[in-house]
Amino acid sequence: MNAHNPLAEASNRDIENGAPQILSMLSARGKAIYYPFKGILGQTAEAKGVKINATIGTAFENDGSPLTLECMEGMVNIPSESFLYAPSFGMPKLREEWGKILATKNPGLKGKTFSQPVVTAALTHGLSVAGYLFVDEGDSIILPDLYWDNYELVFCEAYAGKFAFYNTFANGGFDVASFAKALNAGAVGKKIVLLNFPNNPTGYTPTEAEAKALVSEIRKAAEAGNKVVVVLDDAYFGLVYEEGIFQESLFSMLVDLHPNVLGIKLDGATKEDYVWGFRVGFITFGFKGANAEQLKALENKAAGAVRGTISNAPCLSQSILLKAYTAPEYSDQKKQKYGILAERVQKIRSTLKAHPEYARSFEVMPFNSGYFMCVKPIGVDNEGLRKELISNYSTGVIVLSGLIRLAFSAVPTNLVENLFANLHSAIQKLQK
Ligand SMILES: Cc1ncc(COP(=O)(O)O)c(C=O)c1O
Repeated sequence: MNAHNPLAEASNRDIENGAPQILSMLSARGKAIYYPFKGILGQTAEAKGVKINATIGTAFENDGSPLTLECMEGMVNIPSESFLYAPSFGMPKLREEWGKILATKNPGLKGKTFSQPVVTAALTHGLSVAGYLFVDEGDSIILPDLYWDNYELVFCEAYAGKFAFYNTFANGGFDVASFAKALNAGAVGKKIVLLNFPNNPTGYTPTEAEAKALVSEIRKAAEAGNKVVVVLDDAYFGLVYEEGIFQESLFSMLVDLHPNVLGIKLDGATKEDYVWGFRVGFITFGFKGANAEQLKALENKAAGAVRGTISNAPCLSQSILLKAYTAPEYSDQKKQKYGILAERVQKIRSTLKAHPEYARSFEVMPFNSGYFMCVKPIGVDNEGLRKELISNYSTGVIVLSGLIRLAFSAVPTNLVENLFANLHSAIQKLQK
């Protein structure tokens, strides 16, 4: 293998100095990547504020303002600086703001150390950056058997990882025992765990007791000598609709759990702030005993992976979000939109309660959060059911892993009853 770039070596040394176990978690790509501080971006940064700036490839008018087409500038009520590049790390103020938001939304992070968030082009790209940094060819990724199908493209096709599944549910709750078995299978060594709560497709978030039990299993595995990389896909963070369900990210408990546990939090605006097309997410790192140099080295590597894949996430979207996060009406509006989804979940519960006969057609899988819920149809072919629902009931659903996924996030509350009535009617018809 080629020698690493001196900047990669410097970051690797920073991590190794006091945390060799974290260095050992990095993939070959992760060890090799670096942020090119000395390249075009670094030289441009050094030239900031000079009179004649002939560094970066953006264009300026003769008066020094960004050169833009007025027809586009007129479309957005935001300064034309947002037409320029954002840094590969993300806009500094947005990173700072998101760091504060993380601490507010996760009181368990209080007084704990974690990196500054690095901006990605939303969650999918954040997952890809995590794969870039931590997944080598043939590495197993431990995840529940009900998972977002795009993980296959991200981790298996792009980075040649393999999935090691465990059972998602047991006795109406999360199957922590099955998780523990998968985590402890095989030799002691590097383990990559991928957790997604609220979960797609099930809409499940662990109860408080289950969350503690999961973390306790991770701690035990770390104490046994495993080096555990825990990737948290928190895409639907905050959308929990029931009491007794763990409200925070598991990140709160992972960042100071054990030196052998690296928590990687992937989150962002996409689902939480209802801006699917903005493409802004964050990757944040934490492990017990981390110092500023080690965390900065991980940030540099993440930003290097961003630079080498998409260069930087959209500046326009980052600018809009930064404005929103500091707007006085932001939190009220979020509460109100959360209320719409929460009301829909109540409607689903009351509909299911009012129709015990639906139990002849489908089993309802556990759900309490997020955008989705799943049902397991009884005695019919799921693909046939999906087609029947489109053709004769004008109803679209997703078939996956032996289940039907219903995105209640996308169904107006006044159509929730019809959705389940159609499902029942179509299954009854096909059972005959
Ligand atoms: C669990 C999960 N993670 C990540 C994503 C992707 O989010 P983004 O659009 O921010 O890339 C989705 C989107 O469906 C998802 O369901």
